[in-house]
Amino acid sequence: MSPLCRLNGIGIYVPDKILSNHDLEKIIDTSDEWITVRTGIKRRRKAAPGQNTSDLALMACRNLFSNARLGIAPNDITHIIFASITPDSICPSTACNLSAKLGIPHVPALDFNAACSGFLYGLMLANGLVAAQPDAKVLLVAADILTSRVNWEDRGTCVLFGDGAGATVVTNHAAGRGEQDFSATLEDLSVGADSQGGPCLTAGIGGNTSAPYKLGDRVTENFFIQMDGREVFKHAVRNMSAASAGMLERNNVTIDSLECLIPHQANARILEAVAKKLNIPDDKLFINVQEYGNTSAVSLLIAMHDAYAQKRLSKGNKTLLTTFGAGFTWGSALLAIE
Ligand code: ACO
Repeated sequence: MSPLCRLNGIGIYVPDKILSNHDLEKIIDTSDEWITVRTGIKRRRKAAPGQNTSDLALMACRNLFSNARLGIAPNDITHIIFASITPDSICPSTACNLSAKLGIPHVPALDFNAACSGFLYGLMLANGLVAAQPDAKVLLVAADILTSRVNWEDRGTCVLFGDGAGATVVTNHAAGRGEQDFSATLEDLSVGADSQGGPCLTAGIGGNTSAPYKLGDRVTENFFIQMDGREVFKHAVRNMSAASAGMLERNNVTIDSLECLIPHQANARILEAVAKKLNIPDDKLFINVQEYGNTSAVSLLIAMHDAYAQKRLSKGNKTLLTTFGAGFTWGSALLAIE
């Protein structure tokens, strides 16, 4: 299959504040042991008061553009697409807030929501843009402050999530590779959905449009993330495994020739179950959920960034990404590292 688009560089940002499992023991009825055994998570980052989603994204973009070898500056960007389930506000969009902060206020910018699958859905959108406009340079951003949308009295969900941001620039494959450190071509991508799974993972936030909040209403549980953890677990393993197996098969990629599997970092047990179903050995599975918790759409960007820094993604090799999130949504992508 001929390559689709190119990913140029990765910038990430996580807030300074670290919330360890032991910190959580002091505010809810939980234990480091329970969280570690059930999820693999040891710590997560928490945005500072006053920091919003576009602020995190701005820091990730600065880290991306500050690498001189990238050869792309904010002024070169033609579109901004922004994956988030915790936008700054409904309007203006977080993408527009980011474009203002980056000093490129005239660049077309929009938000989209595919929950934890946001990065791979974003690649689908960016790939379409650079196919239609071959000189486009699409800033694909994901950022979330999930710690602002969990119910800190619900121990079944609040221990799982963390905050962060990530960004990359997507260009047409024919535009050629620059001098940047990280560069990869997208060889294949598939995304899927099953909206029957919607009720298993919800966050009402501003209220239901059919029953809108009125001034003075009290915030209720459905404002926050609510989840049927067991159902989500089952569907996450099933769909990430099936999407990944299909991706490998249709591209004739054997497990031996695959360098790394990077799944959405939801929970170490989910990731290990996916790798097991695919017969992918432990040393090819990348996990960093212990450091950040589940950062939703950002998790693949942070994981790719860390895997690259740890020399787990090397030139000429293939990496498989896979994801699953609320909706339900899922996807899989095959990257060739350049
Ligand atoms: N600390 C201590 N005990 C807890 C905690 C906690 N933080 N949370 C729940 N428990 C208790 C429950 O109250 C219950 O107690 P009980 O037996 O006395 O009633 C017991 O632990 C078992 O609860 P379950 O919910 O059945 O535990 P389970 O083994 O299913 O693990 C978990 C829960 C970790 C949420 C698991 O279902 C899971 O990982 N699901 C996937 C969820 C996920 O990753 N979602 C992320 C969003 S979607 C995505 O990114 C893929």
